[in-house]
Amino acid sequence: MKAQDSFKLLAVDGDDGSLEDIQACLAEGELIVATASSGAEAMRILEFSKVDLVILDIQIPDIDGLSFLQYIQEQFKDIEVIMTARSPSVRDAVQAIKGGAENLLAKPLQPHELLAAVNRLAGKLTQRRALLPQSPPPETYGLIGISDGIRNVIERIERAATINANVLIHGESGTGKELVARAIHYRSDRAAARFVPVNCTAIPDTLIESELFGHVKGAFTGAKDSRAGFFQIADGGTIFLDEIGDASLNLQGKLLRVLQNKEIHIVGSSHVRKVDTRIIAATHKDLPAMVQKGLFREDLYYRLDVVDIYVPPLRERPDDILPLVNHFLHRFAREMERTTPVFSDRALENLQRYAWPGNVRELENLSQRLLVNTDGDTIDTSDLPETMRRITLTSTEGLQSLATVEAAHILRVLAAVDGNKTHAAKILGIDRKTLREKLKRLTSAG
Ligand SMILES: Nc1ncnc2c1ncn2[C@@H]1O[C@H](COP(=O)(O)OP(=O)(O)OP(=O)(O)O)[C@@H](O)[C@H]1O
Ligand SMILES: [Mg+2]
Repeated sequence: MKAQDSFKLLAVDGDDGSLEDIQACLAEGELIVATASSGAEAMRILEFSKVDLVILDIQIPDIDGLSFLQYIQEQFKDIEVIMTARSPSVRDAVQAIKGGAENLLAKPLQPHELLAAVNRLAGKLTQRRALLPQSPPPETYGLIGISDGIRNVIERIERAATINANVLIHGESGTGKELVARAIHYRSDRAAARFVPVNCTAIPDTLIESELFGHVKGAFTGAKDSRAGFFQIADGGTIFLDEIGDASLNLQGKLLRVLQNKEIHIVGSSHVRKVDTRIIAATHKDLPAMVQKGLFREDLYYRLDVVDIYVPPLRERPDDILPLVNHFLHRFAREMERTTPVFSDRALENLQRYAWPGNVRELENLSQRLLVNTDGDTIDTSDLPETMRRITLTSTEGLQSLATVEAAHILRVLAAVDGNKTHAAKILGIDRKTLREKLKRLTSAG
């Protein structure tokens, strides 16, 4: 059985001994067993992870087991339940089965009985899964990462994809803002139309209108043909306004007008055209501060900042470094048709301590450079750029407390003067009484 075929099981019992018995009994097999010792805890687990099967005791501390069975049946109709009870009455058994449980097992549990019941249900679940349409792998839109920071970003992408509101993505350079914008577009119902990236720094002021809204032939000197603007190209789709913080006030004004009127004037034409484009903007700048200083239009800011997504810098999510670097190494190694090297523990530590001013882009570039410059199976500290190697010197590893250093120094001085405290105190620059006290504390400490 492959990992994704395994079943997640939750055992709910007020008695720790029973939970341990269940875990021990099911430890073999492809089963992931979570435990909860109260109904409240079980509810939390059910809500946050996909459980397939619950082993539920009829007597849990905070809620009646049969009521809890009913709750599961109502809230999670795909979950199968096995109930357990110490000396169950016939009435209990009847109610459990009527309530939708597969069966009711008497405690102490007999391992073979429990296993048989679980296996029967696992068979039922496998059949049910086979009937389901092939579910796609968990969607992460090419966004690699396991940190809470990236999970939060993914959650916000999901939400943004279901609505049509404008989005403002902010975060340092190289954190993945464009990747986030693309993910939103391709997850939204605009996916069939175009995603059009526009770099706001790259539009010359004189060409803004023509670039955004297009022009007709002969609209101005040099307009030999008519040309579509970004807003026409992205009609029905998404415009990605990159580096919006660098947009000139002129450009800001033009953008605001389209956002307000949802229509464009094609340069040189007297027609007004309706457009339906969603705006996703991104910046590494502090827009609210720019608004304060009058460098960014407040009305435009509020039009853009309907959904706000912050992509945290890599140094704030060091858990993502290993999955990311493995992903990039693997990708480049495949391109270069060589095996993917691994990092030595020491080298990995260096990567995790490094501040990554260039964020994921810097990590991506490093991965490529490492593959070009090394040919072994292992990447060691010595293969890393100087700036990353030096980190170890500032690492806290092996650094001692002041008290430890002081104690060692006092003992060294004392040894040098054959235990002569007057002499030692003089060298140490303290009086004899202070030295005596320090020594007393030292010897009593161990
Ligand atoms: N979580 C991630 N998983 C995989 N690749 C990533 C991730 N984040 C960023 N990248 C990659 O890192 C590079 C930089 O990302 P991107 O261009 O989206 O950053 P950015 O925030 O737009 O940067 P800038 O502000 O400099 O434009 C891209 O090649 C992108 O594919
Ligand atoms: Mg970018």
